[in-house]
Amino acid sequence: MSQSTKDSSEKWVVSELIYEGKAKKIFSLQGHDDIVLVEFKDSLTAFNALKKGEFENKGKVNREITSLLFGYLTKGHVATHWIEDFGALSVIAKKLKIIPLEVVVRNVLAGSTAKKLGLAEGTPLKKPLVEFYYKDDALADPFLSDDQALMMNAATTEELQLLKTEALKINSLLISLFAKINLDLIDFKVEFGKDSFGKIFLADEITPDCCRLWDKTTSEKMDKDRFRRDLGLIKESYEEVLNRLKKVLI
Ligand code: TMP
Ligand code: ASP
Repeated sequence: MSQSTKDSSEKWVVSELIYEGKAKKIFSLQGHDDIVLVEFKDSLTAFNALKKGEFENKGKVNREITSLLFGYLTKGHVATHWIEDFGALSVIAKKLKIIPLEVVVRNVLAGSTAKKLGLAEGTPLKKPLVEFYYKDDALADPFLSDDQALMMNAATTEELQLLKTEALKINSLLISLFAKINLDLIDFKVEFGKDSFGKIFLADEITPDCCRLWDKTTSEKMDKDRFRRDLGLIKESYEEVLNRLKKVLI
């Protein structure tokens, strides 16, 4: 990462790497304690990083998808950490203390919950299911009941309720957006964080890494399951999701 950029973002000067995760790096910015730079990487991991890969342009594609979706959600009155884009790979975002819960919303059963309950993948749900997983790589992000989330001090009762309400609102907005581009939103994972005043914002990313998206016509998977399950055409699927989103959001 260079110390400054030439594009729209000359006002932001990158200071130092403060965190590196599986798919993103977080940098501090000179003179700003309350905002950070989030850089999207080309790497792709699954099963708690037991399976590793990458593809060229993945960081750029996921950055663009996240920017489009966070911009769309902001218009739908969802408070997000996104402030502005920074070059091809990065965004400027509010610095938040991440709540250690992965909030998963399911509209159709697939993945871990289908497997755990012995139900067929593709079983539609009468109403969306919200689940919490504890963000802890060493424990492989276990499922938490609400009471377990409280026991772990991950959030308060009121915060758990707010996370569910926000996740369901995001779900409704995304279902109607993806329907316009012939995709079914099967499930997704979001993360939230708190600013220095304790206000909660949608954080992290929304990309094919953390959603299941099935083409409405062909039922083709257009998300990270292509990588998890060795289905091929991973790069092409992510790019197709981006291209379809651009048609309705730009
Ligand atoms: P799952 O079926 O493996 O529990 O995943 C549900 C959805 O949440 C799926 O779209 C992938 C996403 N997800 C992540 O992005 N990261 C995670 O750590 C987990 C548990 C799920
Ligand atoms: N557990 C998630 C997955 O299987 C995320 C990860 O491990 O990177 O995709």
